[in-house]
Amino acid sequence: MSAGAVAKFEDSFAQWLGVKSAFAFWKGRVAMYAILKSIGVGEGDEVILPGYTCVMDVNPIKYLGAKPVYVDIEPVTYNMDVNLLEEKITPKTKVIVAQHTYGYPCDMDAIMDIAGRHDIPVVEDCCLALGSKYKGKLCGTFGVASYWSFQWNKPFTTGIGGMITTDDSGLAEKIEALCRERLLQPSAKASLMLAVQRMVYRLFIFPRTTAFATSMFRWLTKRGVVIGSSTTCEFEPTMADDFFMGISDRQARAGLRQIKKIKKNISHRRKMKPIYDNLLKQAGWETPEIPDYMDPVLVRYPVRVADKARAIAEAPRHFVELGTWFECPLHPIETPMGMYGYYDGMCPVAEQACREVVNLPTHPRAKQATAVRSANFVQSIGEASPPNAHRLP
Ligand SMILES: Cc1ncc(COP(=O)(O)O)c(C=O)c1O
Repeated sequence: MSAGAVAKFEDSFAQWLGVKSAFAFWKGRVAMYAILKSIGVGEGDEVILPGYTCVMDVNPIKYLGAKPVYVDIEPVTYNMDVNLLEEKITPKTKVIVAQHTYGYPCDMDAIMDIAGRHDIPVVEDCCLALGSKYKGKLCGTFGVASYWSFQWNKPFTTGIGGMITTDDSGLAEKIEALCRERLLQPSAKASLMLAVQRMVYRLFIFPRTTAFATSMFRWLTKRGVVIGSSTTCEFEPTMADDFFMGISDRQARAGLRQIKKIKKNISHRRKMKPIYDNLLKQAGWETPEIPDYMDPVLVRYPVRVADKARAIAEAPRHFVELGTWFECPLHPIETPMGMYGYYDGMCPVAEQACREVVNLPTHPRAKQATAVRSANFVQSIGEASPPNAHRLP
């Protein structure tokens, strides 16, 4: 079978979201690249995005010769502070990227209003926001296009993987033409290796084993034994020859299996947020207050701790699956951010979040007992002080 599984995966995903077209890729970052390229982003253009992201989200902008322009975040949802957005717009602004961080929906009314007044397309980064809604509407259905990630720690996984969704027929035609012309196919070896990794993941990776498995995985990735989420060359803004790659049939079949479980997955994650909120409230912690019209489905539960370094060091001993993103405004921390036009102090709220925020599991393997163990652990570390604003303006 060839295009069959991939086309089916694309159709099922588009159907789930309720949009006309979907295009699957090797990774989410490839999907982002295809959108920007098809919109016509090129040399000297500017792309606005939050200064609290993954550097793999910035690479596609740099690959196209464009300039990333960073907007600071607000401290409750960790999303772009819409009050700072308009001042970043210039005649060179070509796209605004609305990243729904951790699954918290961006303030889409404000973003769409500002973008509309300046006639700038909005692209949604939905890599962390499968099933989140804003005013009853699914994230991923506001902008001209959206992209999604199916990497290991994303809302659902095909090992690695990505998707574009769009309702814009003109843009879909351009993406299709670009793929016809340039899209590479993963090798049989890479596809098989990823299938083996997915099996290992299914059998052995649980909240108690994640810390050990992650360090093992990183060690093996560095030695080229397994397929990691990012290759070393992706920590510099130079595009590798084999970057623009499609998804394999095996990944697509894994994706189709995940789509069958999508409702259960989303409803589990939706329930995890109030569980964590209540556990922390009972311990006297402040938890974020968001308006009712934001219905987040969190990929991870972010929480601010007094000593992030200690939390990271101690979590494995307590069998706690502690996430560290984002460790710097363009995660991960090894990346020299000047290469990407980010300099210390550009986004102070994001920088503070990088120092304080860790995140806890919400995925279907994390149960009530996992939440209790994780919440107890962060309580042992202590709440970030002085407390931050926990309410949106
Ligand atoms: C917010 C965000 N967007 C995009 C990406 C890129 O996704 P992928 O790893 O599938 O390329 C990431 C990476 O982890 C991310 O955290």
